[in-house]
Amino acid sequence: MQTLAIIGSQWGDEGKGKITDLLGAKCDVVVRYQGGNNAGHTIVVDKKKIVLHIIPSGILHPHTTSIIAHGVVFDPDAFKAELADTQKAGINLSFNNLKISENCSVITSYHKLLDQQRESQGPERIGTTGKGIGPCYEDKVARKAIKIKDLFNKETLKSRLQKNLIEKETLFKHLYHSSFPSIEDETSRLFELGKMVRPFACDTFSFLSECISNNKKILFEGAQGVLLDIDYGSYPFVTSSNTSFGGIHTGAGLMGRPVDEVLGITKAYTTRVGEGPFPTELHSEIGKKIQKIGNEFGATTGRIRRCGWLDLPLLHYSIKASNLTSLALTKVDVLSGLSELKICHAYRYRGETIDCAWPGIDMNEVEPIYTDMTPFHDTFKNGVLSTELTSYIKMIEDSLQIPVSIIAYGPERSEIIFTGARNFFLK
Ligand code: IMP
Repeated sequence: MQTLAIIGSQWGDEGKGKITDLLGAKCDVVVRYQGGNNAGHTIVVDKKKIVLHIIPSGILHPHTTSIIAHGVVFDPDAFKAELADTQKAGINLSFNNLKISENCSVITSYHKLLDQQRESQGPERIGTTGKGIGPCYEDKVARKAIKIKDLFNKETLKSRLQKNLIEKETLFKHLYHSSFPSIEDETSRLFELGKMVRPFACDTFSFLSECISNNKKILFEGAQGVLLDIDYGSYPFVTSSNTSFGGIHTGAGLMGRPVDEVLGITKAYTTRVGEGPFPTELHSEIGKKIQKIGNEFGATTGRIRRCGWLDLPLLHYSIKASNLTSLALTKVDVLSGLSELKICHAYRYRGETIDCAWPGIDMNEVEPIYTDMTPFHDTFKNGVLSTELTSYIKMIEDSLQIPVSIIAYGPERSEIIFTGARNFFLK
């Protein structure tokens, strides 16, 4: 195995950071290819919690080079804060272990303001992270984005910001009635931040191409999840990038190579932050219990995550939409000891029973059909799984026709079982 992609198979927050950190240890290169600091990857090492938003989770291994590729939207201010945090945690970042594409689109103050004004004034609340992700991607597609390389020349930066602000100025003044920084202030701010980014900036496409030619082991680290994908997700309640497998091709580049393994990170239950349909959402005490035990609060915004039972039709769809080849089942410990346990195996939809959440169905209209599972009470102390938990996992594998290759049962690196269904980077 030379290439591995780690993709969230639900609505994000599946525990990708821990798996990327673990498998990143076996890699030469870890690549972020989409999204921005809307992501929050929490990793616990020796009881110390490290939260990464924009810097790839591979950074915790000194021999691994991390890449922020051109598909990422990059907030230099957030990067500055993360740089300080990682340094405080004893991780030294230099061009040797972190390379940032000079073609990343830059999140400016205007993007963040626009995101926040839209969320507070409507007409439709998406429940975004407020980090300016959507407005920055809009500018990229409209060919008005500021690229990282624009930060290094003050005149170029000013002129690009001027073009970028023309339409937004009207919105700030006449629609949202909000103040906004002047071009001069924003140019100075970004130019200063650019000096800090410059030592890391390069053509990551060529670097990656060279790594592929030299048979380096590469891990593509997805952010968010398939159901938040701009094309495959539960639109319009999605993020603005391709969170699924396809994002690797546009956001980083594969240079004619396939991805050998696409690992779908799957929480043993389902969670969602922000607005939008959620068929298996629990509004009962058991939902609150899962939320409490699972500490289901956003790593980026601190918002409460909505919780529900595992949804197999949703996963069936993610597998198809993202070419998943095996699943890593995470946070299994959270379900241990519950008084009841259910899995949604199908939906009733407009008089029919369907087992896959295809695009085009209205997720607000589906009625989940559940299988009652026998609750399990595993402590995970001796590495042996109970027959009840084994049945839970078998139900997933049999219904989805895909192996569970990893079982994670706690935040620490050591709290994990590799089932042997896949030999990650052994070949
Ligand atoms: P945005 O990415 O900030 O524009 O937010 C769009 C939607 O994606 C909202 O529902 C967010 O809650 C959700 N979202 C964005 N990033 C994450 C994440 O890392 N985990 C879970 N949900 C996310």
